[in-house]
Amino acid sequence: MTVSWEELLASIASCERCRLGASRRNVVPGEGSVSAKLMLIGEGPGANEDEQGRPFVGAAGELLTRMIEAIGMRREDCYIANVVKCRPPRNRAPEADEAEACLPYLRAQVALVKPMVIVLLGATAVRHTLGEGFRVTRDRGRFTERAGVFMMPTFHPAALLRDESKKRPAWEDFKAVRDRLYLLSQSQSV
Ligand code: URA
Repeated sequence: MTVSWEELLASIASCERCRLGASRRNVVPGEGSVSAKLMLIGEGPGANEDEQGRPFVGAAGELLTRMIEAIGMRREDCYIANVVKCRPPRNRAPEADEAEACLPYLRAQVALVKPMVIVLLGATAVRHTLGEGFRVTRDRGRFTERAGVFMMPTFHPAALLRDESKKRPAWEDFKAVRDRLYLLSQSQSV
C-alpha cells in the first residue's frame, strides 16, 4: 500500500494500535530529509523524545548527531526514526506486539524516503528489520542488502555512553557507511 507523507503522519498522530498510545505525551514519528540517502533507526522514544515529539534529542541523540557530523553529513540531511513511535513506559524495550503494530509505519517511511543505506541502532532495530537471526555484536559492521537498500547494524548510541569500548567499533561502522554512500552515489551519477 502506498501512502503520502500527509496520510502517514496523520495516521501516526492519532494511532491507538497498541497500549503505548495510552501513555504517550507525544508521538515521535521521525524527522529529517524526505529524500535522505541515509536513514537511521533506533528503538523507541525516551522521556526527552516523548516530551518534544522528536527522535534522539537526549544524550544519546547528541552523540548520534556528532557521529553523523563526523562522517561529513548534517543531521537534517538524514532521516531518523524508531521502531516504535510512542514511548514505552520506564524506557523498557518495546514488546513484540507493540513493535508489530508499529512496523507498518516504519516500512512506509522507508518506502517514501527510499534511502540507499539504513543504519540499525541496537538490538531492537536489528531484530525488527533484519530478523531474529541477527545479533548486533556479531553482525555489526556488515551490510545486508534488502530490496536494494544496504542495512548496517551497529551499537545503539546509549550503549556507547554506557561502555566506552564500543565507541571505536561504532566509529568504524560509521566510516564504512560513509564509504558505502560515497560508492553508491558515484555509481548513480555515471
Ligand atoms: N533512543 C532511541 O532508540 N530512540 C530515540 O529516539 C531516543 C533514544
